[in-house]
Amino acid sequence: MDEPAPAVGTVDTRRAPGAVETLDVVVIGLGYVGLPLARETCLSGLRVAGLDRSQDVVAGLRAGRSHVDDLSDADIAHMLSSGFEVTSEPSVIARARVVVICVPTPLTPDGGPDLTAVLAATQDVAAWLRPGTLVVLESTTYPGTTEELVLPRLAATGRRVGEDFYLAFSPERIDPGNPHFGFRNTPKVVGGVTPACQQQAVEFYGGVVDKVIEARGTREAEMAKLLENTYRHVNIALLNEMVRFCHELGIDLWNVIECASSKPFGFQAFHPGPGVGGHCIPIDPKYLSHQVQAKLGYTFRFVELAQEINKGMPAYVVHRIQDLLDRQGKALSRSSVLLLGVTYKPDIADERESPAVPVAARLLAKGATVSFHDPYVATWTANGTTLERVADLHRALSAVDLVVLLQSHSCYDGGALVMLSHQILDTRGRLPVAPNVERL
Ligand SMILES: NC(=O)c1ccc[n+]([C@@H]2O[C@H](COP(=O)([O-])OP(=O)(O)OC[C@H]3O[C@@H](n4cnc5c(N)ncnc54)[C@H](O)[C@@H]3O)[C@@H](O)[C@H]2O)c1
Repeated sequence: MDEPAPAVGTVDTRRAPGAVETLDVVVIGLGYVGLPLARETCLSGLRVAGLDRSQDVVAGLRAGRSHVDDLSDADIAHMLSSGFEVTSEPSVIARARVVVICVPTPLTPDGGPDLTAVLAATQDVAAWLRPGTLVVLESTTYPGTTEELVLPRLAATGRRVGEDFYLAFSPERIDPGNPHFGFRNTPKVVGGVTPACQQQAVEFYGGVVDKVIEARGTREAEMAKLLENTYRHVNIALLNEMVRFCHELGIDLWNVIECASSKPFGFQAFHPGPGVGGHCIPIDPKYLSHQVQAKLGYTFRFVELAQEINKGMPAYVVHRIQDLLDRQGKALSRSSVLLLGVTYKPDIADERESPAVPVAARLLAKGATVSFHDPYVATWTANGTTLERVADLHRALSAVDLVVLLQSHSCYDGGALVMLSHQILDTRGRLPVAPNVERL
């Protein structure tokens, strides 16, 4: 049996003579997850390289341009000056002690898990795997992926897990735009395939985050991430269902939530809205429900129901818009509607899966004249139609029939919105109570 692997950053004397180990970490996939990880490992003094398939991403980063919200161009410049390498050449994997896979895990057109990128990255790792390497999968995926898909491909190289290489899963918990919790102060859950894998992974992450939580295994670590996101998905759906009947009953649900939040234990506040967006909440629970169905043959009913409710919110918003215009004697087909905030989260530029798109698409289909304003979005397309971006917000507010606050960017001045608009539908419960403001 080989001698135990040395700690990260020290010289691995077990390597074949001539193996050039000039890096501590290679991060595969330099997006919203991989790039912050690369930065933190650089800041910890490790020698880091990033591997990305996209030539645009590689060229942009090499030129010092950041393409994710949480990193500035100055951050990239600092990383490059501290030795950060960016490449699309998989052979870089052979130079590192630790390889972390952060590639996307979207859905297939029929709603199942699309693990194409994970499998492609795994093949690259297998092709360049050297003795003593720690491989960590961080991409969100269904329980079993690390041991059922990644492990066999790495083991097919003839190397033994826990002895010749180490394999673990550690879910990413990055929350883009969160000013309080970043990579370092968010505890990192780690689950290894064997105790030696666990030890290697805990040692690695212990050097770059404040706290490491040890899961019993890879499946528990994989499931922990899905529980976190499913929990949010289901609770948001609960409020999205309540908001409909609270409206019918004349009850301000936001005030209800505020009151309930005064309970110092046993309650966590979630809020209704125009639907869920982003890469995690609408997608990750589907990984779980798909797996339950495929492996066990029954449905994960909470997820299915939450999916149905949250997916129905854009149509409900349009229904409420139509209702508001009807009450003013205006037909939606002859009305102008201004959408404020089209990203999926406040104060960031990420538009992925934003519910603003189905809202706009439905309004356009009904013949409304739709424009938008978002300080983070320069051009915006909904179902193939490029919408007009208003340049002068204050003038546009008074010029349109209805303003819809879809995203609560903190730069929006609630008082000014209320003063200048004829009528507003506030889907975020953010604006002050006023005769021309209706909450969702
Ligand atoms: N974005 C988030 O807030 C967030 C939070 C937690 C977890 N996650 C999870 O992390 C994973 C990555 O998400 P992301 O948001 O960083 O994705 P992203 O789309 O921002 O970035 C992924 C990068 O990987 C690259 N890539 C794709 N296939 C590759 C391959 N085979 N080899 C090398 N590079 C490849 C792409 O070019 C892209 O630059 C997903 O599983 C996601 O669910 C995301």
